[in-house]
Amino acid sequence: MGKVHVIDHPLIQHKLTLIRDERTGAKEFRELLNEIAMLMAYEVTRDLPLVEVEIKTPITVAKAKMIEGKKLGIIPILRAGLGMVDGILRLIPTAKVGHIGLYRDPETLEPVEYYCKMPTDIEERDLIIVDPMLATGGSASAAIRFVKERGGKNIKLMCLIAAPEGIEVIQKDHPDVDIYVAAVDDCLNDHAYIVPGLGDAGDRLYGTK
Ligand code: URA
Repeated sequence: MGKVHVIDHPLIQHKLTLIRDERTGAKEFRELLNEIAMLMAYEVTRDLPLVEVEIKTPITVAKAKMIEGKKLGIIPILRAGLGMVDGILRLIPTAKVGHIGLYRDPETLEPVEYYCKMPTDIEERDLIIVDPMLATGGSASAAIRFVKERGGKNIKLMCLIAAPEGIEVIQKDHPDVDIYVAAVDDCLNDHAYIVPGLGDAGDRLYGTK
């Protein structure tokens, strides 16, 4: 079963409190989401393999470590996932970015893909699928499935806030996928919003309603 990593660094918890606050406007919300995503990326990439290289410092020749040249891919789920991309790219500027857009079929209630553009070498990349809110888990599970159908193999899911219901769905549908979150909240309400959550992440990010 995939592990759940709760990244509860004090800086992340502080910023999470600010982003949850209903008085936080779109500009600050965007900044906070990117900052938290950057801090989380530090932890999500903790297992990147290192190689030893030889360098010359001004003093002497030395052996030192560098990232092995592993290729990374960031895949935001449209639209709220876009709000995490720039923060991650600040830390990993060479990562490629794929995009996936889903809507819920009003009759079957199944997620349907309406947009998908992935890096061509997706099967060689370590992939981080990002979406701030893991609520029912339906969209995230479908996104992971669509990425796997295109050859994606090493996949992590990174969210800001998760509901226990969403975590359960991902662990059941995709036991190979680890989940990284800043907080696991109490539950979902009748409208599938996370409680206490932060409201609609996409609307707060873009100032829509
Ligand atoms: N999507 C959101 O933006 N917020 C929630 O609480 C649940 C899903």
